[in-house]
Amino acid sequence: MVAETVEPTTAAPYIAGDEAVLRVENLTKHFVKKRLGRPTTAVKAVSDVSFDLAPGETLGLVGESGCGKTTLSRLILRLIEPTSGRVIVEGKDVTRLSKRQLREFRQRVQVVFQDPYASLDPRQRVAASVAEPLTNSKLSSDEKLRIVHETLERMGLQRAQARLFPHQFSGGQRQRIGIARALSVTPKVLLLDEPVSALDVSIQAQVLKLLQELRDEYRLSYILISHDLSVVRHVSDRVMVMYLGRVVEMAPKEELYTAPRHPYTASLLSAAPVPDPDVERTRERIQLLGDPPNPASPPPGCAFHRRCFQAELVAQKLGDSEVTVLEDGRRVPRTCAEKQPVLVTQDATKHWSACHFPLSREAVATVTA
Ligand SMILES: Nc1ncnc2c1ncn2[C@@H]1O[C@H](COP(=O)(O)OP(=O)(O)OP(=O)(O)O)[C@@H](O)[C@H]1O
Ligand code: SF4
Ligand SMILES: [Mg+2]
Repeated sequence: MVAETVEPTTAAPYIAGDEAVLRVENLTKHFVKKRLGRPTTAVKAVSDVSFDLAPGETLGLVGESGCGKTTLSRLILRLIEPTSGRVIVEGKDVTRLSKRQLREFRQRVQVVFQDPYASLDPRQRVAASVAEPLTNSKLSSDEKLRIVHETLERMGLQRAQARLFPHQFSGGQRQRIGIARALSVTPKVLLLDEPVSALDVSIQAQVLKLLQELRDEYRLSYILISHDLSVVRHVSDRVMVMYLGRVVEMAPKEELYTAPRHPYTASLLSAAPVPDPDVERTRERIQLLGDPPNPASPPPGCAFHRRCFQAELVAQKLGDSEVTVLEDGRRVPRTCAEKQPVLVTQDATKHWSACHFPLSREAVATVTA
């Protein structure tokens, strides 16, 4: 596989400028484990993540289990404090808000979780669940009930169902209630953490369609976390790929799916099933070696170097002095084993990747068709 030779430029991967509804700057969360009251190891769950979100945009967020997706969304929601970095919502730094300001901020950024049953209190009637984000508002009970009824109706439910309990609904209906609750405060940003993965495939399609309609109707911005790459491709405008707490690639969706530059992205795409059975049978697959490393002790250099097919291919063309031999005998470029790549862009397509030897379009065409 051939590496591209365009000179890269480094800067944060921002596209929305002053329009940005959300801007994340160098966000980092290291969970420090303590033993006998003393800090021992730090789990580097999120490291130096920067991106922004335009009004009405959907940013897909993908990566293997444990790469930091949920931690990133909890940081954005200010459910946990960052180790460093900032979160800017509609121009305001929400990492420095007073309690009152934090309550207002929570009306602007809402979340929909994976499991609609776990996220709804089984002892609470639907009306109370949907009205929960309105608790601190100055609205009267009648006004709150009106909002609950209107929001439920927009979700395709009936206002009379507000009196029922969560167990009286199907999974798809419960997820609609979860979305209604998030929307009751008219937010600008919705964080969708695996919003359809607990649902049947046919219901998934309905809920995704509803989310797209709501986004366009209210000009909402979404961050969509999903393990299902076809869901992300279907719904997103841009896609961000995380590996071991860091962003390794970010690009407009079609660009990312058809011409990934980072070998990790290419491996994820290659592992995902393709709907066309002929293509599925005949295509070449990239093997993703082993499991992700422990985020408490990430490997030096590029965190992906022990699993990377591209590193091995590049090493074949290098002399011994430029190569590091791994414990299992595989050879990778010394640069990959020693130097951490930074996120750079190589052209004006808003395509960013963090790899010393990014893939060329031609190389990728054979494995991600
Ligand atoms: N409160 C915590 N204390 C210590 N470590 C944590 C905590 N929360 C998350 N982690 C660790 O941080 C890393 C990232 O976890 P996170 O839940 O963000 O991953 P994820 O990408 O959402 O995974 P999944 O796809 O399985 O949901 C993991 O190694 C996890 O064990
Ligand atoms: S920097 Fe090296 S090890 Fe890391 S993804 Fe690129 S080629 Fe692979
Ligand atoms: Mg998660």
